[in-house]
Amino acid sequence: MRYSDLPEWATKVGDWVGRYYATLGERPVRARISPGELMAQIPSEAPEEPEEMARIFSDFETLIPDAMTHWQHPRFFAYFNANASPASIVAEQIVNSMACNCFIWQTSPAATELEMCMIEWFRKAVGLTDRFSGLIHDSATTATLCAVLTMRERALNWRGLNEGLSHAPQIRIYASPENHSSIDKAARLSGIGQNHLVKVATDESLSMRPDSLREAIQRDINQGRRPAGLILCVGGTANGACDRIAECTKVAKEFDLYCHVDAAWAGAAMICPEFRDIWKGVEYADSIVINPHKWTGVQFDCSLQFLAEPKLQSKTLGLRPEYLETLGVNNVTNFNEFSIPLGRRFRALKLWFVLRSHGLSGLRQMIRNHVRWVEHLQTRFESDPDFEIVTASPFALFTFAFTPSGRRSDSQTLGLLERVNDDGRIYLTQSRHQDRSVIRMTAGSMNCREDDVMMVYDVVRELASAMN
Ligand SMILES: Cc1ncc(COP(=O)(O)O)c(C=O)c1O
Repeated sequence: MRYSDLPEWATKVGDWVGRYYATLGERPVRARISPGELMAQIPSEAPEEPEEMARIFSDFETLIPDAMTHWQHPRFFAYFNANASPASIVAEQIVNSMACNCFIWQTSPAATELEMCMIEWFRKAVGLTDRFSGLIHDSATTATLCAVLTMRERALNWRGLNEGLSHAPQIRIYASPENHSSIDKAARLSGIGQNHLVKVATDESLSMRPDSLREAIQRDINQGRRPAGLILCVGGTANGACDRIAECTKVAKEFDLYCHVDAAWAGAAMICPEFRDIWKGVEYADSIVINPHKWTGVQFDCSLQFLAEPKLQSKTLGLRPEYLETLGVNNVTNFNEFSIPLGRRFRALKLWFVLRSHGLSGLRQMIRNHVRWVEHLQTRFESDPDFEIVTASPFALFTFAFTPSGRRSDSQTLGLLERVNDDGRIYLTQSRHQDRSVIRMTAGSMNCREDDVMMVYDVVRELASAMN
């Protein structure tokens, strides 16, 4: 294939994409494939001679789509949605085609400056004060790791970077058990160690208890350890749990801890002012992560990190060998110095396209619809004696168990979930809550309509009756 063939293939692929979206709702959501089945159909070695694009594309059509789980399906209610609005898809095609590496200002002036503008747009959209600026990462996992490394180095007065940790005081960081596993991973990768991520007790609303936080920090100080940072969650993955940020950051600040807020999923809802009470006190955070690639229609990957003092992060992560100097220009931002990889994709373009194409009003409407429809769905399960709502959240997420004749049984609940997902009309995932298996339902797809959400009850009820 030659570059001059691109217009022809762009049209062919565009047609395929159009057909894919037009018929997506007719496909089973979760792939119907056994492990190894696809591998068995791919030759064991790369071809020696070039192949025609037509043949490559035909093999793609035959082998790949049916072997994929369809994340943009209107009835994908598993994990968190990784939305791709049409405007985002178009932007990504442009970015893929220009294929630039945006690590310093000079390698990508427009990407750097648009990234700064988009951080500003999003900051204002979610009601954060101008105390914050920030950057775009690939994932919340990266943003959280950057924040945890910064909290570690700040507590060590930036000595760990050169001297290592073997003679350093034992760093401790704090989070509730409702946080995402990316926090555990950050504790591991930062050299702090997972045993030194203290899981602070929660109350009946699944929020971190500020008194338990204070006790844990004080205990560590008394034992000669060094408390470094606090990680709070707004919209925990399993059940939407939210910490009370104002109360917990107040405690943390008394001990001079660095505070990071993981609002990877639910942070998007803050574009609706009515939700902002939930993260009251967020302005006291030092770092906040929100993933537009979850609930904002900006396709994977796009994760925003807002920082109150970006210099602390660049002091931790920035390195500038001679070849990365921006000769001839001063006072420019080189975003690689605030993150882990050197190479960076041009992620701001899709955010720009999406925010303009939908407008904040369109995105607010989508989020409000999801929340309302899921609340309505939850009431249908509530009024059915064969089901128990186990956790509810202010956002579009609840968990439930199958309890025929009032009997609690994990195997019944998981058995029902397997039947539901094999059926293919909808896709849900499992979770655990207080040692119980539950079915987790969340809606966040740009493609879903109220009927799609309501269908969850119909499908689950039908398959539960068949089990009974
Ligand atoms: C609350 C929360 N934080 C962090 C993550 C990790 O996100 P990412 O895949 O962007 O690393 C997730 C993923 O679902 C999440 O739900």
